[in-house]
Amino acid sequence: MTAQELREKYIEFFRGKGHREISGKSLIPENDPTVLFTTAGMHPLVPYILGELHPGGKRLVNYQKCIRTGDIDSVGDKTHLTFFEMLGNWSLGDYFKKEAIEFSYEFLTCEKWLGFTPDHLHVTVFEGDSDVPQDREAADIWLSLGIPEERIYFLGREDNWWGPAGQTGPCGPDTEMFIDTGVSPCSPDCRPGCYCGKYFEIWNDVFIQYNKTPERRYLPLDQKTVDTGMGIERTCAILQGKKTVFETELFMPIIRVIEEAAGINYGSDPDIDQSIRIITDHVRSAVFILGDEKAVKPSNLGQGYILRRLIRRAIRHGRKLSMEKDFLFSSALAAVEIYKKLYPELGRSQKMILYELELEEKKFLQTLSRGEREFEKLLPNLLKNPKKLLPGRIAFRLYDTYGFPIEITQELAAENGLEVDLEGFQAAFKKHQAISKSGAEKSFRGGLADHSDMVKKLHTATHLLHKALRLELGDHVQQKGSNITSDRLRFDFSYPEKLTLKQIERVEEIVNEQIRRDLPVSFNTMTLQEAKADGAIALFGDKYEEKVKVYSIGGFSREVCGGPHVERTGALGRFRIVKEQSSSAGVRRIRAVIEPD
Ligand code: ALA
Repeated sequence: MTAQELREKYIEFFRGKGHREISGKSLIPENDPTVLFTTAGMHPLVPYILGELHPGGKRLVNYQKCIRTGDIDSVGDKTHLTFFEMLGNWSLGDYFKKEAIEFSYEFLTCEKWLGFTPDHLHVTVFEGDSDVPQDREAADIWLSLGIPEERIYFLGREDNWWGPAGQTGPCGPDTEMFIDTGVSPCSPDCRPGCYCGKYFEIWNDVFIQYNKTPERRYLPLDQKTVDTGMGIERTCAILQGKKTVFETELFMPIIRVIEEAAGINYGSDPDIDQSIRIITDHVRSAVFILGDEKAVKPSNLGQGYILRRLIRRAIRHGRKLSMEKDFLFSSALAAVEIYKKLYPELGRSQKMILYELELEEKKFLQTLSRGEREFEKLLPNLLKNPKKLLPGRIAFRLYDTYGFPIEITQELAAENGLEVDLEGFQAAFKKHQAISKSGAEKSFRGGLADHSDMVKKLHTATHLLHKALRLELGDHVQQKGSNITSDRLRFDFSYPEKLTLKQIERVEEIVNEQIRRDLPVSFNTMTLQEAKADGAIALFGDKYEEKVKVYSIGGFSREVCGGPHVERTGALGRFRIVKEQSSSAGVRRIRAVIEPD
């Protein structure tokens, strides 16, 4: 079964069960500063899981492109990926455990659908702890379907709980499905959850049934939600009898390009395979990030930084395989070819993707040659070191000042009979991080953390403006950026043409109308299970904490946002748009102020 057949079957199956197919969303989350990328199909659905009505109804199904970079350093082994696609089905306060598990079982085992042998199916359920009872209900449903006790495993929070501990909001147990590949177990303790390759985890049904209060109480939720996620790459690999995801049609064309460019064969040497997998995975992710509807360019910040890391790491491994420059170009092209039918945005931005990759490669190669020259200068002195140790602070200076990756310093050092003091490097790195963090905190206090009254008012006005633009120009209007200082708001949004004076006046009027109505502003909080997700959480963790607030302004607007806001819209005064201009292709920029009424 090809990946495309799998996608089609999944959607067809759940449509047959009354689900509406909804489109997947951008890899860049909307209005959610807690994570850099969309990490699961549920991510864009958070407001609906929190209770907002979804226009598609209570039963939804889709496939979603996802990026998780928390495990970026493990990529290269047989299982880890940074980009993957997730199939998902949702019940928003409609069916719950029984139907969800029965649907999963039917889809997995029925000949018409995936046709896995029921005997190969192993499942895990939540074992319970002092706060929440064991999910016996889920286990009993599996039993009723014929899965015997010995293939039902009870695991703890780490494996079978959705919603991080220590925070408040909707959460619940999950049940995960594994297929036994038939290979021998790695040890007597080998069981689902072990990564040796015997058990492939392919699906997760999450049952969001509790609301965790600040007092650590788990109260049953009125609206219970089912959120499921099936990994396309893994499921495809197992359906095709492959040992790893890389041998499926989703990766092989890229691997073939690399084999050709490097004159080597995949599968002939574990070290070479590791580099090939890293390049394949990173190029795929880079193509999807660059080609996203909300395209991101390489930079030293946020998503752009992750993108830069992915591209540079791919280049480094390309050098390791002694490949010429062009491999990046041709492997990216292969990735676009695989996906452009399903994700037309990639085809549309193919030229830009290739251009950006080439530019980044050029920059990186310049960085490398500057670093190499510096290394040459240092070498005579380094060779005098009797311990043949390259000090950590020098490795760090090469890294920090010249952008020279530590692995390359190690390579060059080794070529000259030296070893890098890695501990010293780490220590210098940590010291630097601590210094820049305190610097960042300082500037942060003066900027984003400015909770002055005016900032609050402008923040609330931004939500009103966003909604007003959608009402006036259409629901397709999307926020592309927002910036608030203590005297004005700036708002970027997708729209192809200049707004007319009439449109501007109407938008102002809609906003001012909501101000006159003196609507209450309130929020709900929920935690996202992003523990496995992006390293970005750490980046933003200090500033925003790992939770998502959903702000409602009366019945008028509801948005995921970190705040802060005023308590009632009546506090705003009068809203006025002072400028409307182009920001970039297809994106308009509004500057607005609020003035005393
Ligand atoms: N949101 C759940 C997951 O990502 C289904 O595993």
